[in-house]
Amino acid sequence: MTTSNYTRHIRELDSANHLHPFTTHHDLRAKGPRVITRAEGVYIHDSEGNKILDGMAGLWCVQLGYGNEDLSRVAYDTLKKLSYYNLFFQTTTPYAAELAALIATKTPPGVNQLLFSSSGSEAVDSAIKLIWYYWNLMGKPAKKAIISRQRAYHGSTIGGASLSGLPFMQGIFDLPLPRFHHVGPTPCYYQYGASGETEREFAHRCAKALEDKILELGPENVAAFVGEPVMGAGGLMTPPEGYWPEIEKICRKYDILFWSDEVICGFGRTGNWFGCETYGVAPDIMTMAKGMTSGYQPLSAVALSERVARPIIESNSEMAHGYTYSGHPVACAVAIRNIELISEMGLVGPRGAAAAKRFQAGLKALEDHPLVGETRGVGLLGAVELVKNKETRERYSASGATGVICRGHCFDSGVVMRAVGETMFLCPPLVISDAEIDELFVRVRKALDLTLRDLKKG
Ligand SMILES: Cc1ncc(COP(=O)(O)O)c(C=O)c1O
Repeated sequence: MTTSNYTRHIRELDSANHLHPFTTHHDLRAKGPRVITRAEGVYIHDSEGNKILDGMAGLWCVQLGYGNEDLSRVAYDTLKKLSYYNLFFQTTTPYAAELAALIATKTPPGVNQLLFSSSGSEAVDSAIKLIWYYWNLMGKPAKKAIISRQRAYHGSTIGGASLSGLPFMQGIFDLPLPRFHHVGPTPCYYQYGASGETEREFAHRCAKALEDKILELGPENVAAFVGEPVMGAGGLMTPPEGYWPEIEKICRKYDILFWSDEVICGFGRTGNWFGCETYGVAPDIMTMAKGMTSGYQPLSAVALSERVARPIIESNSEMAHGYTYSGHPVACAVAIRNIELISEMGLVGPRGAAAAKRFQAGLKALEDHPLVGETRGVGLLGAVELVKNKETRERYSASGATGVICRGHCFDSGVVMRAVGETMFLCPPLVISDAEIDELFVRVRKALDLTLRDLKKG
């Protein structure tokens, strides 16, 4: 394929002045980036004329697909009416007030006090500070440790990266900060279950590891436990059966705040409004972003239960925390319409359930492919484990090289999948049609065939 002058021009500009997030710049500048120029529905288009089915909904966020007329119009109308105002100093806007009220109808009962910000990482940092503030107000200032899990992803600010259990994003920045602790095993039965151990036994072992960590640190020093209902960016890992209720019980037993990071799992991704509902647990704190606006505007929130919010609301001291763009009116207006559309279209409801059923069936069917060791998923989330030997689960590579090869073949086959190590992920827009789901798996299978062909060639 020849590269057009336009693509070359954009690549030159990009290489001259642009540092990319989560990128090895040495490689990028040698190759040049793919240039995405437009998108509609579930498809993105690049500058070379390729139309690619976005199996990742951008970065797990485009619930309603691209180019939605309604959301675009709401953004435009709100920009004209109230392009900006802040929520500091005893002020609000109808958009922020209405959005908080709307989200409080979707969160579990009692989790109904919202503080807005613009990104998942900012919501996570807000939650960390509010947790510490809560325990200070409660007269328990020693309760400061926050326990997360190995391979968790909670963002890339200093707080988010400290909370994440991914050493590659910590060591180079001298993180994590003190007070952040990570427990293993990571709750993924396929990858970490012991031979002969049932899924329930594995779930119990994971929960016991949390309890042991709490006892090691001293419950009087532990402020909170955080988890993504389905681990996302660290490897798309659905929890083993019985895991979440056991974790919740342990948090309650030791009076530790239970925080569900819903940045990926929120707004219909797992079939309900939030992942905690899918797994039958009730957190004290939730963080949310991404699907909240379908990515049309940057917006996030931390939601607190009444228990956590009450001392903050009743305190005479200022909650000296917030951002210029906390609850930006345009972002809030888009979020309101986005949530209404998710409801009206039945995406949390019958249409979403039907799409999830078809998607999960298509995913499962990939297990007959010689390269696939396991598939797992929930709602419109799916993972594919690439293996050399299905019985022993031996991999082609210990370094994740197979995932990188497969990701390249996905693009060339017209579908976006993400790779972490030897695991491939799917997270398509919730509006994906039956025909598009079928097409998605035709393209994924083609990419798997091409990957296997390369691996066999050596
Ligand atoms: C669970 C979770 N928390 C937090 C974040 C950080 O969100 P953002 O990239 O918007 O800062 C992410 C991003 O993927 C996430 O998956």
